[in-house]
Amino acid sequence: MEVVTTPAELRRRTAAWRRQGHRVGLVPTMGAIHAGHLSLCDRARAGCTRVVASIFINPLQFGTGEDLERYPRDPVADQERLRDAGVDCCFLPEPRAMYPRGFATRVSVERGTERWEGAVRPGHFAGVATVVAKLFVATGPCWAYFGDKDAQQAQMVARLAHDLDTGIRVVVCPTVREPDGLALSSRNRYLDPESRQAAPCLAQGLRAAVAAFAAGTRGAAALAEHVAAPVRDQPLAELEYAAIVHPRTFAPLRRADARSRALVAASIRGVRLLDTIILGAPAGL
Ligand code: PAF
Repeated sequence: MEVVTTPAELRRRTAAWRRQGHRVGLVPTMGAIHAGHLSLCDRARAGCTRVVASIFINPLQFGTGEDLERYPRDPVADQERLRDAGVDCCFLPEPRAMYPRGFATRVSVERGTERWEGAVRPGHFAGVATVVAKLFVATGPCWAYFGDKDAQQAQMVARLAHDLDTGIRVVVCPTVREPDGLALSSRNRYLDPESRQAAPCLAQGLRAAVAAFAAGTRGAAALAEHVAAPVRDQPLAELEYAAIVHPRTFAPLRRADARSRALVAASIRGVRLLDTIILGAPAGL
C-alpha cells in the first residue's frame, strides 16, 4: 500500500490510475479504523479497481469543547488494517497539508443540515463539507463510500457531490453493528465497561420503533417515543434527540412511511453516540 501525504500527490496518483482505465474508490475516514470502515473498504474493492482510504482527523468539524484532542490516533495500526483490507493507497496528510496558512474557505450545504447534528454541533457540517470537498477535488472522479450511521452527513455529501458537478458517485453503505446492536463507531473506544453495557439502548429504541411500524403504528410522535424510551430508561444515558424524519430533507414528519428514517443521539456518561434506521428496512437491525 502506497502512502501519500499531500493533496497534489493524491491527485497525481488517482489521475494516473484513471489514465490506465481504473475506477477509483475513495473511503474517507478519521482513522481509529474499525470493522465499519473495513466494510466500506470491502464495498469499494467490490465496485472499483483501485481504492484510496484517507485518514485525517479534520479539526474544522470539531466544535469548542469537543473531543478533537483526545480523538483516538493510531496511524500505524490503522495503516496495517487498511493494507490488510486491500487498500491500494492511504492518504495521510498533516493538518498543514490540508489547511495551509491563510486557508479561508468554507463549503456549506444548506438543505438538510439545519436540524439534528447541524443544530447540536454548529459549524460541524461546514467542517465536514469543506474537508470532503477537498478530498473530492484531490481524488477526482471516483466512487466515494460513506456509512449510513451518519445518515445526515451522507445525505449532505451526496448533495455536495451532485451540486458541484464532481462526477463522483456517493455510495452509502449499511451500518455495521456489534452482536448486541451497538453501531460501530470510533467513539465507542471511549466507553468504559458500564457505559458499553448501557450503549445498546440507542439500537434498542430503533428496534422498538421498527417493530411498532411493522405492527401498524404510523404516527411519528408515537414512533419517536418508541425510539426515546429505552434511552430515557437508561440511567447512564442522556437523550439529545429522537425523531422520525424524511429520508432526504431530514424534516420531522407527522406520519411515517416505510422510507422514513428514525434518528437518535444520546450521550452515555459524556460519550456522544448516534444511530439511525429506515423504518421499513427489511433486515431491521
Ligand atoms: O465520518 C467521518 O469519519 C468524517 O466526518 C469524514 C467523512 C471522514 C470527514 O472528516
